[in-house]
Amino acid sequence: MNCAERLVEIFGSQAEVARAFQLDRAVVHHWIKTGYVPARWAGEVERVTHGRINAVDVVNEASAKNPVRVKSRPEDAPFGILSESDPMSQYAPTKRIHSFHPPQRTLMGPGPTEIHPRVLTTMSQPAIGYLDPIFVEMMEELKSLLRYVYQTKNPLTFPLSGPGSVGMEYCFVNMVAPGDKVIVCQNGVFGGRMLENAVRCGGTPIVVEDKWGDPVDPNKVEDALKRNKGVSVVAFVHAETSTGAQSDAKALTQVAHKHGAMVIVDAVTSLAGTPVKVDEWNIDAIYSASQKCLSCTPGLSPVSFNDRVVEHVKKRKDKIHSWFMDMNLLFNYWNAGTRTYHHTAPTNSLFALHEALLLIREEGLENAWARATRHHMALKAGLEAMGIRFLVKPEYQLPQMNAVLCPEGVDEAEVRTRLLNDFGIEIGAGLGPLKGKIWRIGLMGYSCRADNVMLCLSALGSVLSDLGLPIHVGDAEAAAHAAYAQMHTKDAQRKKRAA
Ligand SMILES: Cc1ncc(COP(=O)(O)O)c(C=O)c1O
Repeated sequence: MNCAERLVEIFGSQAEVARAFQLDRAVVHHWIKTGYVPARWAGEVERVTHGRINAVDVVNEASAKNPVRVKSRPEDAPFGILSESDPMSQYAPTKRIHSFHPPQRTLMGPGPTEIHPRVLTTMSQPAIGYLDPIFVEMMEELKSLLRYVYQTKNPLTFPLSGPGSVGMEYCFVNMVAPGDKVIVCQNGVFGGRMLENAVRCGGTPIVVEDKWGDPVDPNKVEDALKRNKGVSVVAFVHAETSTGAQSDAKALTQVAHKHGAMVIVDAVTSLAGTPVKVDEWNIDAIYSASQKCLSCTPGLSPVSFNDRVVEHVKKRKDKIHSWFMDMNLLFNYWNAGTRTYHHTAPTNSLFALHEALLLIREEGLENAWARATRHHMALKAGLEAMGIRFLVKPEYQLPQMNAVLCPEGVDEAEVRTRLLNDFGIEIGAGLGPLKGKIWRIGLMGYSCRADNVMLCLSALGSVLSDLGLPIHVGDAEAAAHAAYAQMHTKDAQRKKRAA
């Protein structure tokens, strides 16, 4: 049912819809005929229906039915070429280029995620300078919101201008000096990236390996620490996005500390999707990325160092090998007391991060974690009803990153292509040794919703059945519905007992 039809259902008739919106009936009749409500009515629809129809659904439907085409040049003038004799035209693209309008996608891969309309709106606010007093005030709020999602009081908590990989390099480049012994835990792609960083910083890496799909084993880390005296850093990925496995960050940190080492924790996929408790677990250095469970635009990497790390970096005699990522210099921009120019901060992206974090604060961090688990349980019930199995053992499964084995004989790439082309759904492929063997279905941030779970299950079911797999379309949705109903009943009983 489209939004126009839903309005009629809610109000009872086209005439009542017209009355509610103070419009002529012909206008409403036109909405029904064309099958959509024009985007300019989105806000009003949400208001008048008291949120029963979301503004974003109206906008999405309208832009799918009636894509906006902005012509930057008249049709008859090839782009950029004013006249044949214009000497600059030789550098202009030969193809006519229009303004870019991405299609509406359901993003259920390993990130980026869909972005909440409030975050998108905030991002499109007017630009202001990165030292504007209003912006500076916002930076302080942003830091306090980040401390909330990281559950820390660390003063040095701020977003770096760059993706998660920059956060990773920032930790290594500041904490690892040439010759330092570094234990790098590798149980997937991103542990491998950490190893690269340790090597590039001149560190002496000691690799602790676990099978892809398994968590990092704290016993193996302890053995490596006993065998190699004087290790300064233990680095591991909390939520390995390439496999969907979660490691025990608290236990690994305890082991490292027992042997005098600091930890670098990759929380790119874990932050806000599953508990990350920096102070309670005594984590020394941690980084994440804006485009996963924070559901913001890519390109920002929230980082946090505790006092031990700050002291360690300040005491280094050698110059940090990256000017851009030198903690001491960055601190001068992000510290409320000093605030001097370091680089031109991506102001509008930072507005967006502020709003994305605010949404998490409003929802409550524990509720955000619980939401990921709830939708993961429903998705899992649906996938298992189709005979699809998970790569990771249940106790280590990440709710926000579901790595599942592709059924035998199925061309996994074709399935992903069909999901994208026929249903507008993006899911992720396997990486490295898991290439061609798994799909990675993300339930991160704003993408983690019941409508996405149900759409994904029915789309995947119909593609697989189309490809000849013995799947009963509808079984997966029924199983997911049953899982939701069961969770709902349990919640209701819990609330009743508590009352
Ligand atoms: C666990 C993990 N670490 C690091 C990164 C790198 O982040 P980015 O792609 O934002 O540079 C990713 C990206 O997916 C990741 O999943």
